[in-house]
Amino acid sequence: MDELWRASRSAADLATGHLAALPGGPVWRPVPDADRSWLARQPLPEAGRPLETLLDDVRDRVLPYPMGNGHPRFFGWVNSPPSPAGVLVAPLAAALNPSCAGGEHAGVLLERTAVRWLAELVGFPHQPGAGLLTSGASLATIVALATARQWATGRNGCDVREAGLYASRPLTIYLSSEGHSCLRKAAELLGLGSRYLRVVPVDDAFRMDTVALRRLITADTRAGLRPFFVAASAGTVNTGAVDPLEDIAEVAREHGLWFHVDGAYGALGILADEPDPGYAGLARADSLALDPHKWLGVPVDCGCVLFRDRSGPRDAFSLVPPYLRDDGADELGWFSEYGPEQTRPFRALRVWATISHLGREGIVRLVRRTTGLARTLAAMVDAAGDFDLLTPPVTSVVAFRYRSPAPDEADVLNQRIPSAVQRRGRAFLTGTQLSGAAALRACVLHPDTTEADLAILLDEIRTAAKQITG
Ligand SMILES: Cc1ncc(COP(=O)(O)O)c(C=O)c1O
Repeated sequence: MDELWRASRSAADLATGHLAALPGGPVWRPVPDADRSWLARQPLPEAGRPLETLLDDVRDRVLPYPMGNGHPRFFGWVNSPPSPAGVLVAPLAAALNPSCAGGEHAGVLLERTAVRWLAELVGFPHQPGAGLLTSGASLATIVALATARQWATGRNGCDVREAGLYASRPLTIYLSSEGHSCLRKAAELLGLGSRYLRVVPVDDAFRMDTVALRRLITADTRAGLRPFFVAASAGTVNTGAVDPLEDIAEVAREHGLWFHVDGAYGALGILADEPDPGYAGLARADSLALDPHKWLGVPVDCGCVLFRDRSGPRDAFSLVPPYLRDDGADELGWFSEYGPEQTRPFRALRVWATISHLGREGIVRLVRRTTGLARTLAAMVDAAGDFDLLTPPVTSVVAFRYRSPAPDEADVLNQRIPSAVQRRGRAFLTGTQLSGAAALRACVLHPDTTEADLAILLDEIRTAAKQITG
């Protein structure tokens, strides 16, 4: 124990020292060959060694090579810095090391609170037990889609858990061309087949076109298929677009579809100063995925799926063998009855700590600050002669393009810019394809990002572009 006392103090110093030094260092840097080899190809140690010496390696060979998302000039994908409260309590969750499958202990009870708080934050109606923390939105989506699959086949007198999908007419799923790839993965995994996934076109603000959605549903019904699931986005990765949730909820109601909302990144955007009108209707979802490990900054991993009705996921997943029977459980049963994981980590401590530290007010401030910065960046892009803004931001993502001096080469140039910027180490952004052309996108999630950081990002893009074009 003495060894752990000493080493844990050093670990705490290392963690805080790392966070404090981040803004002054590079956002990202390549891993030199020697360290790469050490990190990826170490032989299995025969003998163990003292805890303190492990920390030396972490200090010298791990902490110097972060992904970059702790830095205020990281604008890539959708990855936030870790919340200080989350960093603080992560070792305590490890010290307790429970399985949050079920039973009566702090981990399970706190997860009930964490899930309810997340629902309350975004104004989603909460029924006790109707939600659980997951590894991320990919798993949240699998849980939601499996639940909807059980519900849809059950309405036709078929139990998909027993019969599989063999007895069922093909079930069709709808998402927009800007919907996240995790939906397709989930559909493939659950045997629904990407062939039956309908990609609904978007309007010029990258939102699902609900007229096209209705048309596709009608055509599938006429063809003898069974439309059953529509997945709307509350904050897409590419542009942060929010689909018209109220209209989509209405289409789902008319046609008897399950209405899912992917708010993994953007659900919290409902707390912005003037939230996008698309958010109206979020509370009508049958299921909502939202990731505390995105905008909220809960250290990875932590996703969440919320349901309108708790019976759905339990119907889809509950399986209690004699060795897991718990006669003392309350009417909600175990978390492991609501999803595929049996042993489940204590994610709730990080969520609880993050929300407790910020409070609702602090979270609103974070969302308003980051959406405000996205608007500032958009205005800077718009005012500059060498950039094109691709769409006005509605959350905290800005999609834009560098205007190449040689228009024929604009696509190749914009494709090459992100990695050139990353290698320079002063800012980090990633690219995408929008309307068939290469685009740049910057996602603002860091509470300490400033307007000066936005100016540096644009200058870094200019410099990288000049390096590329020689
Ligand atoms: C909009 C959206 N949906 C789903 C996902 C998948 O979430 P996860 O990576 O937590 O599984 C992401 C990840 O960035 C996302 O941004």
